[in-house]
Amino acid sequence: MAHQTGISLPVPQQSRYLYYSLNVGAQASELMAALEPIVDGEAVVLGLGKAFVDLLGATRIKVQDAPVYSNAGIAIGAAPFALWIWLRGSDRGDLAHLTLQIQEALGDHAVLEDLIDGFCYQKGKDLTGYIDGTENPEGDEIQRVGFDAIGGSCVAVQKWVHDLGYFTSLSPQEQDAKIGRHKHNNEEFDAPKSAHVIRAAQETYSPEANLLRRSMPWADFSGEGLVFVAFAKEFYAFDAILKRMIGLEDGITDALFTFSRPLTTSFFWCPPMRKGKPDFGVLRGK
Ligand code: HEM
Repeated sequence: MAHQTGISLPVPQQSRYLYYSLNVGAQASELMAALEPIVDGEAVVLGLGKAFVDLLGATRIKVQDAPVYSNAGIAIGAAPFALWIWLRGSDRGDLAHLTLQIQEALGDHAVLEDLIDGFCYQKGKDLTGYIDGTENPEGDEIQRVGFDAIGGSCVAVQKWVHDLGYFTSLSPQEQDAKIGRHKHNNEEFDAPKSAHVIRAAQETYSPEANLLRRSMPWADFSGEGLVFVAFAKEFYAFDAILKRMIGLEDGITDALFTFSRPLTTSFFWCPPMRKGKPDFGVLRGK
């Protein structure tokens, strides 16, 4: 089965994330017909939320809503959107025009609830200046980690808001201790248990919690941060890591939370492609 190649490719220069809910009276058949010519899986990646999958009457694929977690003063909500469309390109103008086409095609069936523009910073760094994605799978591992048996992929998306004023006020050593890598050479060191890469170390979970991360920074009038985007064959890895990050396992919270916070979590399932179109048939076992 062909997967959506935009997921396995490196992040583009520019991204736009569109989040839709269903309008009253939305028809599954008309939504699928509208999405088929738009979603090529590479420049336009599609994720389906539980509401859309339920509307289709899908029996074979179950998509769950994202969990709500809170601990130690950290509260992470869930935003259950019906559709997530990830536009990937190099020119923001092209993504703006594509957005208009998509809006027109979806018509009254879906309501655009949120739009986030993401960008590539210094060839793949988070705005804190740390390279993001070093421990991502490569080569054949991408298929194994990122996709299920039919070429679908479960994606968790979180918009994080950073306090960069605070973060940049810290010394280089203090910053490195929060991430668990040296910013100047990207090397790991004997970091505190709260350091992000110690909390998230994929091989320390049982079973291993492997993710294919494709996050990108965002910045607008409201602030700046990271659109965290992680694909996997199931939601287990994201869920396990997030729980440990907020201290639900051993009471130690991830140092990321001292300078950043996720607004909400959304879960989607990205269908495989068939003859250049999203394969909605697999949802009903066709
Ligand atoms: C503000 C949000 C976040 C930032 C800035 C961030 C940044 C980073 C950085 C700089 C690294 C080290 C380099 C690398 O391997 O990519 C890293 C590693 C990692 N992050 Fe995050 N991250 C964030 C949120 C998350 C979340 C929410 C999860 C999962 C629930 C996560 C999972 C991981 C994993 C699995 C690794 C690799 C750990 C390993 O196996 O060594 N991150 N992150």
